[in-house]
Amino acid sequence: MELNEIKKKLSENLKESRYNHTVGVAYTAAAMAMAFGADIQKAFMAGMLHDCAKGYPLERQKELCQRYGIPLTKERRESPQLLHSALAPYIARDCYGNEDEEIASAIECHTTGKPGMTLLEKIVFIADYIEPGRKEIPGLSSVRQLAFSDMDQCLLGILESTMQYLESRNQTIDPKTKETYQYYKEEDRT
Ligand SMILES: [Fe+2]
Ligand SMILES: [Fe+2]
Repeated sequence: MELNEIKKKLSENLKESRYNHTVGVAYTAAAMAMAFGADIQKAFMAGMLHDCAKGYPLERQKELCQRYGIPLTKERRESPQLLHSALAPYIARDCYGNEDEEIASAIECHTTGKPGMTLLEKIVFIADYIEPGRKEIPGLSSVRQLAFSDMDQCLLGILESTMQYLESRNQTIDPKTKETYQYYKEEDRT
């Protein structure tokens, strides 16, 4: 599918603020790809597609998970924001023609990260958090600087604030987020 067509379809399927966020993530991911020598076009496309399943109401997201054989685990039921990232590779393939496996895996783990992420996976995870339209939250400006100097420290910073935020609101922290955090914390020590 042509980029223009993808943009048009996304703008029809996402609310305006989500679409603006999407474009912010795409350009941020492309800039990070420039800084770190990753594939710029792939980073841009992964940014465009990362929230492609977010426009569906939650009930529809659950139905789609069933259709694609994505198990509705306890974590996914407790933290429904995990559904749109689990669905993202399927919707990107079936509605936006994405056949690229690297893009698929980057958009799949954009909410929680995962241990041993590829460069593209890290870029999309970080870009989602730091894109220019994000509301100012404590620590964001230092995380933004780290994004272009020390990606792994940046990841740790994001995971830490995400867990603190969820804890402060008594929301469940997905085990994958904790696992990712532990992994990069240990990497940091070695
Ligand atoms: Fe998302
Ligand atoms: Fe996002």
